[in-house]
Amino acid sequence: MGGVRQKLLAGAIVLTTVGLMATAAEGYISGKTWTAINRANRHGPFVGLVVPNTFEMVPVLNSPSFVASKTIPNLDVQGRRFRFGAIGGQNVVMVMTGLSMLNAGLATQMLLSLFRVKGIVHWGIAGNANEDLQIGDVTIPEYWAHLSLWNWQRYGDGKENELPLEAAGDYTREYGFLNFSDYTVGQGNPAMAANELNSIWYQPEEIFPASGVPEERQHAFWVRASKRYYALAAKLEGMELPACVNGTTTCLPRAPRVVRVSRGCSGNVFLDNARYRQFLRTKFECTPIEMESAAVALVAYQQGVPFLTIRSLSDLAGGGSALGNEASTFISIAAQNAVDVMLKFVPLLKEQ
Ligand SMILES: *[C@@H]1O[C@H](CO)[C@@H](O)[C@H](O)[C@H]1NC(C)=O
Ligand SMILES: *[C@@H]1O[C@H](CO)[C@@H](O)[C@H](O)[C@H]1NC(C)=O
Repeated sequence: MGGVRQKLLAGAIVLTTVGLMATAAEGYISGKTWTAINRANRHGPFVGLVVPNTFEMVPVLNSPSFVASKTIPNLDVQGRRFRFGAIGGQNVVMVMTGLSMLNAGLATQMLLSLFRVKGIVHWGIAGNANEDLQIGDVTIPEYWAHLSLWNWQRYGDGKENELPLEAAGDYTREYGFLNFSDYTVGQGNPAMAANELNSIWYQPEEIFPASGVPEERQHAFWVRASKRYYALAAKLEGMELPACVNGTTTCLPRAPRVVRVSRGCSGNVFLDNARYRQFLRTKFECTPIEMESAAVALVAYQQGVPFLTIRSLSDLAGGGSALGNEASTFISIAAQNAVDVMLKFVPLLKEQ
């Protein structure tokens, strides 16, 4: 990169009149990179693998089930590394997003724009909001929503009051709210329980599907995973997963399971609060709670590409179970379980 910058700087000094081009050149893809992208695409179509962080990606790279491409093992584009290989006869391209919604959406869009991708499989660990499940269980939700886009209502207004810009169709009261006063400690006295933070209303995302009219917005709240992928995932529900770390020294109460669940929830929030976790469970039926899947889902949906998320539960968000504080002990099991399920799932896509 330093070399490129120096060349750009030299260019800018020589061609002072077109100095602006030097900055613009860093934001678009060079002809050389396009050539490499086109070459890589000869091995497509790929299953697109989207993973949040290194600790969820490294077990894949270390697995004998993943065979790195000999011709093009990886290609770096604009700060992202795309890794090529095969899993169970399926050619794959894998990208690590980094934390949270912006990174996940951006990396997924790049993946779909640059490469011939027939479907996306996303995996990782997640907080848990479903007390029927256990650390290490691997969940596969049918629907995802982004729950950190809000309209924050002014103090004094309630359910019956229209939100700002609601009439224009920008915001809605359709998906419900959280009222801070409901969580005040010592609610006995309503006057004392009132809270000036009042309420936040959950909002659907504005989307612009590739099949729609440009600049004509649509809205999406619950985004459905691919029906076909979700149905295929049923085959993994009996899969055996390890219950112990370090041989038999540290074990979960029962062996983890793979379960398809109705809903997963994402937001730009690391959730470590039991009351909000319970609210999310009651209000939205969330099981895994994390920071990327809905962004992947929203991008895949807009591009008309099938997707599925596989998320293992690393902890009961906010604590509250006997295992609640043992996330650090079992996080490696959780990450490995999500990877193992992904590695079993991808080969099932061969009938496509
Ligand atoms: C939230 O609670 C306050 C009382 O603290 C009440 O005045 C308001 O109407 C409630 N908002 C909603 C949306 O129910
Ligand atoms: C597993 O064993 C290794 C080395 O024996 C140790 O460093 C690590 O803390 C152990 N992990 C757990 C979760 O017990």
